Amino acid sequence: MRIIIVNNKEEMGKKAASLVSSQIILKPDSVLGLATGGTPLDMYKELIRLYNEKEIDFKLVKTFNLDEYFGIGKENDQSYYYYMVNNLFKFIDIPEKNINIPDGSAKDIVEECVRYEKSIKQAGGIDIQVLGIGTNGHIGFNEPDVNFEAQTHLVKLEESTIQANSIYFKTIEEVPTTAVSMGIKTIMNSRKIVLLANGISKAEAIYGLVNGKINPNLPASILQLHPDVTLILDKDAASKL
Ligand code: GLP
Repeated sequence: MRIIIVNNKEEMGKKAASLVSSQIILKPDSVLGLATGGTPLDMYKELIRLYNEKEIDFKLVKTFNLDEYFGIGKENDQSYYYYMVNNLFKFIDIPEKNINIPDGSAKDIVEECVRYEKSIKQAGGIDIQVLGIGTNGHIGFNEPDVNFEAQTHLVKLEESTIQANSIYFKTIEEVPTTAVSMGIKTIMNSRKIVLLANGISKAEAIYGLVNGKINPNLPASILQLHPDVTLILDKDAASKL
């Protein structure tokens, strides 16, 4: 596991964008695994800048997002689909058919999970997966549990996750209580993983990820078993290491 410590969030975004853009330069038809939340926003800004500078393009790139809230459609401004369009996709030249996000409004959600998992395989698997981390150590929406869920599945969100994510909603009641998420095996099958974390609220989870026993109560600890993981952390997130 490589650990890169940076001074601030902006630097974290730049470093992460360098890793993603190098991947695209080396393999223009790369399959990217993408994350939402506050953490990767600076990375998306930098990727847009690199695209505008003609350093990279996304014509052949395919993307798969980690997760999506259950029960809300694409047009809902709280959906991860909406977030991705407004923070990245509408600024770059990725063809719409190459964008993949679980459909949280699918009638048959179990079938949707199977379909999503199949499309990742058909695309040849994920070349580089970008991750954030929950304060409780979740990756994607794989919440602490007694077991690891292997594949894309429906999750019941923890109270602490609902609380943490409520900053993006007007009221806490609006935060969906369930979501669709790639599973631990889906994430671990990615060829490379880059996990970003900033702020003191992530320090405990980062400590567990790096130094804790591998256990499903801190889902990110499984990353200790992956052969190619890079953490990009600000000083606060790294403060307990
Ligand atoms: C959310 C997402 C995760 C994200 C994490 C951290 O619940 N499902 O993919 O990494 O929580 O979010 P933030 O970056 O806003 O701290």
